[in-house]
Amino acid sequence: MRTLDEQAHLDFALLLRRRWADMLYPALRGQYEASLGGAPEPAEAKEARPVVHALPAYPWFAWLERNGQKMLWRAVQDSVAARSTEAGVEHGPATLVLDPALEMPAWYTDWDIHIQPGGVWRSDASADTYELGAKLVMLGVNDDYTFHRAFTQTAIPRRSYRAILDLGCGFGKSTWPLKKAYPLAEVIGLDLAAPCLRKARERASAQGLAIEFRQGDCQATGLPGGHFDLVTSTMLIHEMPRPALMATLKESARLLAPGGLLRFLDFTKTGDAFRDLAMIEHGERNNEPFLPGSIAADLPAMCVEAGLVGARWVAFDERGAGRLDELRWPRRAEWHFPWAVLEAEKPA
Ligand SMILES: C[S@@+](CC[C@H](N)C(=O)[O-])C[C@H]1O[C@@H](n2cnc3c(N)ncnc32)[C@H](O)[C@@H]1O
Repeated sequence: MRTLDEQAHLDFALLLRRRWADMLYPALRGQYEASLGGAPEPAEAKEARPVVHALPAYPWFAWLERNGQKMLWRAVQDSVAARSTEAGVEHGPATLVLDPALEMPAWYTDWDIHIQPGGVWRSDASADTYELGAKLVMLGVNDDYTFHRAFTQTAIPRRSYRAILDLGCGFGKSTWPLKKAYPLAEVIGLDLAAPCLRKARERASAQGLAIEFRQGDCQATGLPGGHFDLVTSTMLIHEMPRPALMATLKESARLLAPGGLLRFLDFTKTGDAFRDLAMIEHGERNNEPFLPGSIAADLPAMCVEAGLVGARWVAFDERGAGRLDELRWPRRAEWHFPWAVLEAEKPA
């Protein structure tokens, strides 16, 4: 139970974020379109940048994006710090394999990702903060992790999988639905952050899910080659620099059995210069330094270089049908992420 004061702080921070998305973003877009005066829209984000930066709403938009996020973490951190961590479920079907000798990449530890103070890996409190924050940052529509359920239900072809690997599983919200949908499969969630993995194990055990959570780097997992018929990730690849991204695709290709599937949920370019610029600058303002690079990268071509076939992006509409069959999203006025699924497979 949170105190009224804590709840009010959280509600305010969340509401501010909503108004930024559903009022300020459309206002900025309106000013942008008016400023073009009927001239053709710039084709690329870099051409839209000087136009957008000159708009009257831009300083408000940019400031509120970064500082609204800081305010949200502050409210979440205060709420987490106000009470002792609830006792987790230590015993149950989920298992945990930690690697105390694991070296974390500097690009992972040098930044407080998403401006979360201390990142997601430093202490158990980091995982508590991340868990509460993650419930809130999807603009309040992520109750019961609907988003991740939609990924499993719409973006993963129904088959009888023997072994599934979820890369960058965090505290497990992307892994639980996979095990629920494929209870007979061996399901492994892999992440660098021990505190998140401990939480993932507790939460999975509490739900009766026999998942193995394992500490490791998705660039070189140490898991047996050809063992998995599905390798997934959600919200992982935009957090990695390009060499790590390439290494992860090659590692995924190595891990997949012939005919096995790769399904990564992330973001891609939309071709709408204004929106792509907002996304690139979201990365810059939200301490996601590799997001602009991952959006610019040709991920399907990188999949092919890694030895996969049939690589393509399809759109993912998290409020509607989930996975769509093409790279086009339903039009929405408010700011929202260009979610997309990177699909590829290992040649049979
Ligand atoms: C935004 S979180 C997404 C977590 C989870 N997939 C979800 O959707 O809730 C990204 C996760 O990737 C992990 N991660 C980042 N780089 C990684 C790497 N090289 N190897 C393994 N995990 C990594 C982070 O620790 C973090 O938990």
